[in-house]
Amino acid sequence: MSLKKTKLVAAIAGAALLVGGLAACSSTKTATPAATGSAASAGGLIGIAMPTKSLQRWNNDGAHLDELLKAAGYTTSLQYADNKVDQQITQLQNMINQNPKVLIIASIDGTALGPVLATAKAKNIKVIAYDRLINGTKDVDYYATFDNYKVGQLQGQYIVDTLGLAAGKGPFNLEPFAGSPDDNNAKFFFAGAWDVLKPYVDSGKLVVPSGKVPASDAEWTKVGIQGWATATAQSEMDNRLNSFYTGGKKVDVVLSPNDSLALGIEQSLDSHGYKVGSDWPLVTGQDADQANVKNMLAGMQAMTVWKDTRTLGDQVAKMVDQIVKGQTVTVNDTKTYNNGKIVVPSFLLPPQVVTKADVKTALVDSGFYTASDLGL
Ligand code: BGC
Repeated sequence: MSLKKTKLVAAIAGAALLVGGLAACSSTKTATPAATGSAASAGGLIGIAMPTKSLQRWNNDGAHLDELLKAAGYTTSLQYADNKVDQQITQLQNMINQNPKVLIIASIDGTALGPVLATAKAKNIKVIAYDRLINGTKDVDYYATFDNYKVGQLQGQYIVDTLGLAAGKGPFNLEPFAGSPDDNNAKFFFAGAWDVLKPYVDSGKLVVPSGKVPASDAEWTKVGIQGWATATAQSEMDNRLNSFYTGGKKVDVVLSPNDSLALGIEQSLDSHGYKVGSDWPLVTGQDADQANVKNMLAGMQAMTVWKDTRTLGDQVAKMVDQIVKGQTVTVNDTKTYNNGKIVVPSFLLPPQVVTKADVKTALVDSGFYTASDLGL
């Protein structure tokens, strides 16, 4: 166990001793507390609702949170909802029935949880929106995420720098994509990227042959891919290549907001005969998913924006601890995330660009992957 983690566990175990009371549940996954004795398990139940197992990052996020909280003596209920909104609501209702101290929720549709969270509020259960903001309700207490706007900015700036747009190079053929229209993050990712790229679209240095170009940030859902689905991104890219890239026209750059879309786009490019080392375009991504990091090493993806989800889990575990202890919860942004009812106090972590050149130093040396995970 790392020093950081040891300290955290000690802090949380200390909190558990202070809080007292019975572990609240009979639930699903019962932890074996790291410390022995009844006091160590007095932290109570923490509900963790994740959107889907189909994307690697959510498996990592859920497992890390579960491990941290269990090691600190909490009982956890970790649930995945197969990207189905109704299933997530049912899971939350079941958790609420078991009187957790805190709910940690990575929502599927950030606008759909108001009614179920009203029942949590009535029981004084605190709610942390995890990674994705929960909208349209007062009954969310905190938000912890990476700086979503910055993620998009990093993708846009990478494109500008790599293509030499600021030095006047171009024109280049661009195909822009955005994330799922029901995910609040997706609009921040797109806005961050588009604010950097739009001036070059306006000046003609970036051309969008498909015409799938939002007139403004606000029109981002026009290029959104529902459910962040790889297969949908692939067929959308197939359609664009089949319809608009005839007669030898080539795509030079694809703005993909994350790795699950990038994977589908890369499959499409491959099946349309693009070759690494000759005409393979610049493709962006986010998450440093294993398959995409392998594609980066193979030259099929230029970059990914890495969000070290371990640091997000560490931060959220600290927030849980502060809530349970009745302490002031640490936040670093009280302006940006207005959910339509309130501005949710947030903790934003910094995302970081990773390319083929720094896969080893960023992802392997930090222990996020082993060299053999990546075939190195
Ligand atoms: C997350 C991304 C992820 C996407 C698809 C977003 O809300 O912030 O990291 O790639 O959902 O799951």
